[in-house]
This record gives sequence, C-alpha cells and structure tokens, in this order.
Amino acid sequence: MIDLRSDTVTQPTLGMRAAIAQAVVGDEQKREDPTTTALQERVASLLGQESAIFLPTATMANQVALKLHGRPGDVLVAEESSHVLVYEYGGAAAHAGLMTLGLPGVAGRISPDQLRAATAPSTKAADQRVTLLSLENTHNNAGGRVWPLAELDALVATARELGLRVHLDGARVLNASVALGVEPSAVAARFDSVTLCLSKGLGCPLGALLAGSYELIERAWREKHLFGGAMRQSGVVAAAGIYALDNHVERLADDHARAGRLAAGFAAAGIAIDLEQVETNFVQIDVAPLGIERAEALDRLRDRGLGLSSTIHPTVMRAVTHLGITDDDIEQAVDILAGVLSESTATARRA
Ligand SMILES: Cc1ncc(COP(=O)(O)O)c(C=O)c1O
Repeated sequence: MIDLRSDTVTQPTLGMRAAIAQAVVGDEQKREDPTTTALQERVASLLGQESAIFLPTATMANQVALKLHGRPGDVLVAEESSHVLVYEYGGAAAHAGLMTLGLPGVAGRISPDQLRAATAPSTKAADQRVTLLSLENTHNNAGGRVWPLAELDALVATARELGLRVHLDGARVLNASVALGVEPSAVAARFDSVTLCLSKGLGCPLGALLAGSYELIERAWREKHLFGGAMRQSGVVAAAGIYALDNHVERLADDHARAGRLAAGFAAAGIAIDLEQVETNFVQIDVAPLGIERAEALDRLRDRGLGLSSTIHPTVMRAVTHLGITDDDIEQAVDILAGVLSESTATARRA
C-alpha cells in the first residue's frame, strides 16, 4: 500500500538500524547513557535552548511542559484544534489541573488581539489566571501549516507582555524551519519550552525531546520519572535520533515538494485543492463538493492500495508525505485518487 495516512508510519531505514545496532548505551535514569546525553545536547543547541530531555513520546513532552508551567486552576490558552487540546485525552486537566481555553484559529494561528481578549481580567475570580499559551508549528489539524516568523514574534511578545509562559508543540518544528529556510533555533528559541518529535518526519521508531532552560529541564527530570518515562538503555533509540538529525532533516524539503506535486496532481484531476495551503508535507482533501462520504472514499482508496486518513474536519481527508514515499508513489497516488473519486461522483450523480 502507498501509505500516506501519516508521517508516523515510517520504518527505520537500514542506515538508522545500523546506528541503533552500534549505539553505546548506559542507564539513562542515572544519566549514564552517553548516546541519550549526546542527543539531548544536540537538540538543545539545535533549538536554541539551554537544555533538553529525552522522552518516549511528544505527548509526554507536551504534558510534562504544561505541568511545569502551570498550577492547578490556571488557564491554558491554545488554538482550539491544537494537538494539546484535542488529542491528548484532557491531559492538561488530568495531569496539570489546568483549565483550557481554545481560541478559533486561521491556519492554526491565533492573533495578539485574541490573546488580549482571552486574558482580560475576570472580576469574579481574581486568582483564576491565564498563565500559559501553547502554540503548534507546524499545525497538524490545519494541514501542516507554518507560522510566519513575524506573526510568531508578535504573538509571543504579547504573551510576554501579559506575563504568560509560552510552550511550542514543535512536534514538526523542523518541517517549519525547512519550509521557512531558517535555522530551527530561529523558530524555537523564543519559547520557554519546545517539544520536538523524532517519530514523525524524522523517521525514528519513537522518541521526543523537551527543550528549555537548565532550570526547567532539571524539573522535567522529576516529572519524566513521575510519568513513568524514565528509561534505561535508551541510547538504542537516541542513536536513531542522532542519525535522523544527521540524515533526515534537509530531506524534509523532498517531502514538502512531493506534497506539492501530489496537491497539484489532485488539482489537475479536478479535485478542489487550495495549493497555497500546502506548505509542508500535508495535503487536505475535502470530499464534500464531490458528494461522497469520507468513510466510503477512504475505504475505496484503501481497496485500491492508497492509504489516506481522516481529519478533525468531518468531510476532510488528508495525505501526508514522508521518507517512505517515492516520486513514483506520488504519481500512482494521484491516479488512484482521481480514479476513485470520479467513479464515486459518477455513482452519486446516477443515484
Ligand atoms: C502536533 C503534534 N503534537 C504532538 C503529537 C504527539 O505525538 P505522539 O503521538 O508521538 O505522542 C502529535 C502526533 O501526531 C502531533 O501531530
């Protein structure tokens, strides 16, 4: 199957498997795993932060960050379809006791004015404070959209002025920096904490990092243990992370170019797609104008050997490019999708 459901479906490459096999390891809970330590130092410097900690998943990295930044009863503000609000099982409330306020975004982005309105003091609950803002870049539910740096600057400056801490869910922040053509630190250094995921476009089997100040990351070590995320010979996974940073960052541009070709191919086949919105490795396809049910479209595509997935938007499916996808796959995917959707719309018209 041509698997475009997500960039999480990648298999470790042969080179990555060799790096895993050769990893020098130790007991990570005792901070004795040299490969994990090396990865942490590398990621901290890449993101322009003082320190970083290795964690099993990006969800855990986000959750540890939220817990470190807020106290129970504080309010977390985020764009309403962001991963921390919709896919982390209410972790902000369950783990950190945070109340959450989701603001409607455009392309996953919210504005300084929205933030000001959301933080205007309440007369009823003097001590109920908005203390934390979490942003996502690239934004998953918006279709891999990227924050322009000037917009990010303006919002983070407003958050600072309002006394908020600012977290970046940068699970795909390297897609953002590659798309913008800037160093990752140019995007990530302005935040109090940053999540980076290894198991998406970077192609590792698992792993994520949380980066921030020395002080924050020292506190994160305790939370990591409390979450059950303290590991032992984690260097076998960290080695994959180092390999990915050496070999799989620049090539994210290939994923973006393939997503662009996929979108252009779909558009040429008569599927309504806004090519301007394809900024990284996601293509969103709305089946509503075609008059077919999304579930049916997904089933038919799967039967023909093309895996796409659903999104939070009821009629929208998505295709995500990654290191397991070739140029040939892109051509075939266009043919399969165009064929299935035109058959389905013909059937819908006859009915
Ligand atoms: C933006 C974003 N943040 C965090 C995560 C969580 O990653 P994981 O499922 O590896 O914990 C995801 C996963 O899709 C994501 O898209």
